[in-house]
Amino acid sequence: MLEVKSQGYSVIIGDDSITHLNNFLIENKQYSNYFIIVDENTVEHCLPTLLTNIDCLSKAEVIQTESGEENKTIEIVTQVWYAMSDAHADRKALVINLGGGVISDMGGFIASTYKRGVDFLNVATTLLSQVDASVGGKLGIDLGGLKNQVGVFNFPQMVVIYPPFLSTLEFRQLRSGFAEVLKHALIQDANYWEKVKNIEVTTDYDWNEIIEQSVQIKNKVVLEDPTEQGLRKILNFGHTIGHAIETWHLENDPNFFLHGEAIAIGMIAEGYLSNQKTGLSEAELNEMVDVLRRVYDLKPIPPEKFEAYCDLMIHDKKNSDGKISCSLLTKIGNCKWDVFANKDDLLNALEYYNKTVA
Ligand SMILES: NC(=O)c1ccc[n+]([C@@H]2O[C@H](COP(=O)([O-])OP(=O)(O)OC[C@H]3O[C@@H](n4cnc5c(N)ncnc54)[C@H](O)[C@@H]3O)[C@@H](O)[C@H]2O)c1
Ligand SMILES: [Zn+2]
Repeated sequence: MLEVKSQGYSVIIGDDSITHLNNFLIENKQYSNYFIIVDENTVEHCLPTLLTNIDCLSKAEVIQTESGEENKTIEIVTQVWYAMSDAHADRKALVINLGGGVISDMGGFIASTYKRGVDFLNVATTLLSQVDASVGGKLGIDLGGLKNQVGVFNFPQMVVIYPPFLSTLEFRQLRSGFAEVLKHALIQDANYWEKVKNIEVTTDYDWNEIIEQSVQIKNKVVLEDPTEQGLRKILNFGHTIGHAIETWHLENDPNFFLHGEAIAIGMIAEGYLSNQKTGLSEAELNEMVDVLRRVYDLKPIPPEKFEAYCDLMIHDKKNSDGKISCSLLTKIGNCKWDVFANKDDLLNALEYYNKTVA
């Protein structure tokens, strides 16, 4: 088991992390009741493991939501608030988010606002949430198709990462999470890149070490800059363009791209911008593009969509005056933030993407 200390809470990683959660609940008797937020997949594949190993959860209320980014909305939040209220959840309730990034972002937001805030913890069940989303305190929901438009920073009591949960995850979901792993290596650690660039993404792969290393990278960054005044922006590499693509498709054809799939495209396009603006060498650009092409089924995007993506970027909450703030690589393992791009730069980057995957 590895314990990574974050802002006032620990991230517990390993096959005995569920035992650790059991001990935490035995030691923390102040909770009046437990509310486990699940979706239709985690209720089936993950909840039984919690209930068989943690006796005190037998009295927990299980609140089921529907999976998917299109359900990370205020409507679902309201349903869960009602479910908690109807079950007389008081300020000593503990919310347990059992799921991927959608459940931890939304469940954390629900807990942080219900009765002005009750405690919560995350039991992360997807690779994406185990390596990234469950750690760092960014919580929230989408609004009218705009990603993470409403939210807060707040911290869980604990993050529990039980790698065996990954055995039931669909391949596409696993591969989506792997995009954040590649991102961590590209922005912070050239040695880690040497390791991850050769990984064959399969359920059989032993993910423990990767989860440990990625959590440590993300945690180090968020501890240095919890509220994203500077350094934390490097975690947005690939996300300026990637989020715009994800957002557009969410509105127009949900599930077309999973989060990590859109970020993989974003990393290629922003890799190109890194080569143009921050000195990423041609050789390193080609190397990262080759890895992303090997892992993901990348196809050209009809160029008539580029305008719509650009509009979304121009109106993104992080940007102003038509200037788009990007985090770009200077080399593999190093990333610079607050580098500005204009619309032409973005169009060129998207064209580069199309050319490389054609
Ligand atoms: N807060 C942050 O710092 C942060 C960072 C990165 C991403 N995110 C957010 O995370 C979200 C994406 O997270 P995600 O990819 O985990 O999505 P998700 O929560 O939708 O999970 C993906 C799918 O896997 C299913 N699933 C979950 N665990 C399973 C298991 N063990 N076995 C079988 N199926 C399982 C879910 O039901 C869902 O269908 C996005 O909304 C993104 O914005 C947040
Ligand atoms: Zn991401």
